[in-house]
Amino acid sequence: MAVQFSPGDPARIPAPLVPDPAGGGTPAAVCPAHRGRLVTGIDAWLVTRYGEVSAALSDPRLVMSAPEIEADLVERGELPQRFGSLFQRKSKSLLSTDPPDHTRLRKLVASSFTARRVDGLRPRAEEICEQLTTAMSEQAAAGEVVDLVSSYAFPLPVLMICELLGVPVEDHETFRQWTNAIVFDQGDEASVAAYRAAVTGLDGYFGALIETKRTNPGEDLTSALVAVHDDGDRLDSTELRTMLSLLLVAGHETTVNLISSSILMLLRHPDQLDALRADAGLMPNAVEECLRHVGPVAFSAMRFSTADIELGEVTVPAGQVVSLGLWAADHDPDRFPAPDRFDITREDNAHMAFGRGTHFCIGANLARMEAQVALTVLLRHFTEFSLAVPEDDLKWRPANTRGPSSLPLRLSHA
Ligand code: HEM
Repeated sequence: MAVQFSPGDPARIPAPLVPDPAGGGTPAAVCPAHRGRLVTGIDAWLVTRYGEVSAALSDPRLVMSAPEIEADLVERGELPQRFGSLFQRKSKSLLSTDPPDHTRLRKLVASSFTARRVDGLRPRAEEICEQLTTAMSEQAAAGEVVDLVSSYAFPLPVLMICELLGVPVEDHETFRQWTNAIVFDQGDEASVAAYRAAVTGLDGYFGALIETKRTNPGEDLTSALVAVHDDGDRLDSTELRTMLSLLLVAGHETTVNLISSSILMLLRHPDQLDALRADAGLMPNAVEECLRHVGPVAFSAMRFSTADIELGEVTVPAGQVVSLGLWAADHDPDRFPAPDRFDITREDNAHMAFGRGTHFCIGANLARMEAQVALTVLLRHFTEFSLAVPEDDLKWRPANTRGPSSLPLRLSHA
């Protein structure tokens, strides 16, 4: 059975994320784990309830890497061949390893993303947002419509991650194309070819950058990781390039979606926008609610089962792909009262937009800080903003990330 996960506007995603075999009731309530074929061609057990998703993310028997299971699934036609040979699986990245390899790799970069380190980057984020809003003001004063995505939501995270990694920001257009090819892989021949080209491009790019940093180190994370690599056996050359590529790709698209979708949510809910303008202290809460409500990564967390695993009333057998629906879990009515209501004052909002457990998003502090600063500066700068096109005309990004591809706004300030 083909289960379609729609990308795009969460408000338009059809309610039954999972078919309801029993008929009646909410799908999540009657079906804690259901086997189906994803649009990517992978046969997987879909898990959609908050409790089961949360437990599964912390279950060491559900793993990122299981070469024998993968090979078996490919042979049985339950996992397309290309998933057995892609960059994420072949090379040892955070998202393709389990402890102890994962623990070793994560330790090398975790200190760059702690709340304290990220807080130190806040003034730089504010400075970037001030510069961007000034440029947008000039556009608005000239009567132009401003695209919030290309003028604001995109440049901030890109500049921040490039500076953190010590990557020349002039190269960001190339990165954007590579990142798009990686996250927008649709499974057809053309996009798989583009994916492979992007992975090769990134790998070569970082190979050259590593040489530059070796002879001319800076205060950036790339230089620090090159020093670790050269210092001993904690990080091999492939791991080093893979780590940098992953951080660049992961740091690129997701936060863009969070910022642009948050603005759209506030435009859709003027009462919430007014409340936020009236009480700046609500900002952290507002960003959490956007994360829960929108789910800026549209993907589910994927794992392999290495044992029979009880999920609710269902036993998922060993040797299967398990797809953990983060966004579905964040809309589980048993966990979040009135889950479809966008409410920036919502309490007890322990959403799973950043995952949970071993692979909890390493960039969560950074993404939160960037979104809080971006919204704060935007609201301070512009007293009014509105959509310049009918909402139905907005285009949504395809595939694995969720957010508008452009957000044309009319802006004004007092
Ligand atoms: C992992 C979401 C921003 C780097 C993850 C996971 C999710 C996620 C759900 C877990 C995947 C899994 O368990 O299979 C998000 C969202 C973001 C965001 C919603 C923004 C709104 C960032 C940023 C960075 C980043 C800015 C860059 C520093 C990573 C890395 C991992 C990860 C390296 C793998 C962690 C590990 O396996 O230990 N992210 N992310 N993310 N994210 Fe993010």
